[in-house]
Amino acid sequence: MAELKLHHIYKRFGNVTAVGDFNIDVADGEFISFLGPSGCGKTTTLRLIAGFEKPTEGIITIGGTEISNAEKGVFLAPEKRGIGMVFQSYAVWPHMNVVDNVGYPLKIQNVSKEERLQRVMKMLELVHLKEYAERFPNQLSGGQQQRVALARALVAQPSLLLLDEPLSNLDAKLRESMRFEISAIQKELGITVIYVTHDQSEAMTMSDRIVVMSMGKVQQIGRPYEIYTQPANQMVADFIGLVNFIPATAKGDRIFVNGHETLSFPNPKKLAGDAVIAVRPENITISKTGGMVEGVMNHRFYMGDSVDYRVKVKDQIIRVIQKGAVYGTYHDGETVYLDFDNVMSFAKEE
Ligand SMILES: Nc1ncnc2c1ncn2[C@@H]1O[C@H](COP(=O)(O)OP(=O)(O)OP(=O)(O)O)[C@@H](O)[C@H]1O
Ligand SMILES: [Mg+2]
Repeated sequence: MAELKLHHIYKRFGNVTAVGDFNIDVADGEFISFLGPSGCGKTTTLRLIAGFEKPTEGIITIGGTEISNAEKGVFLAPEKRGIGMVFQSYAVWPHMNVVDNVGYPLKIQNVSKEERLQRVMKMLELVHLKEYAERFPNQLSGGQQQRVALARALVAQPSLLLLDEPLSNLDAKLRESMRFEISAIQKELGITVIYVTHDQSEAMTMSDRIVVMSMGKVQQIGRPYEIYTQPANQMVADFIGLVNFIPATAKGDRIFVNGHETLSFPNPKKLAGDAVIAVRPENITISKTGGMVEGVMNHRFYMGDSVDYRVKVKDQIIRVIQKGAVYGTYHDGETVYLDFDNVMSFAKEE
């Protein structure tokens, strides 16, 4: 069982708060991503779970057992936590072939040579590297080395696996296929995974839940669909997906777009005063004949499967993405009309 709980976890380095009040209950077998900009505390949180750092405050439990409790002075050494790990720079040992690399964690556990080979080959089959067993790392591609690191992290059968940007050194195509491989392995072995990334599409496709972080603080924890359609605040809306923010003012049960007296939206959050309307580019439709607001076509980018438009509405450039649109439908300088759908609203952030 690898239920993981973080309870009021803080980590301070001098006067830098790298992690501030992190709370989460991760269920056994769950795939959780930590997502956020560089320096927001993702690696630090992972290192706290692994036992490479001590929390300044708070409690960490795995399977109901306290492995770290700052107040009581409880701290279990990393090698006793039964956790598998793959780090940002996936160090595979250059002087060992694939079998020896993957089998190393079993060797230090004094597992017999025969059993070791059997378990290593099973792992290599899982990561599609069986034919590469005898090779040395310098005879492997980056993606193959990455999979060696993954097999090595899995061979001791951890119930909890921590992955810190394990695909960061791979090209776009390989990254995508590795995503599916990692998800498939996780499902097959039923392990709990904490996956650190700053790539939102990785987090969206792989996770049961995503933790969005910023400046050491958890901004939102939710399923990918929730995070995308109901972001908790402006930071989350901005970080996940593309979005237009339009200045507005909330009054009573409506939010009025600044500078457009007649354009207003419902105010379900009962905001008051300065606010922003947020609308994703794919939730705006363009027409030549009429809509909520009038604008001027400013620029168009042909994307193959879509056209990415910039439309000037008063002083603001609004981004609109239309799937399957034909590039030549509009020309620059033409008057167009926009309709907004799935409009979100937030209190204005400084
Ligand atoms: N040992 C340390 N001493 C002092 N400050 C540290 C230490 N480790 C991390 N920090 C600081 O804590 C903050 C969080 O760092 P962390 O490595 O967790 O970020 P991250 O989210 O993993 O970023 P990235 O996406 O760039 O890997 C940063 O401001 C960093 O400079
Ligand atoms: Mg990091």
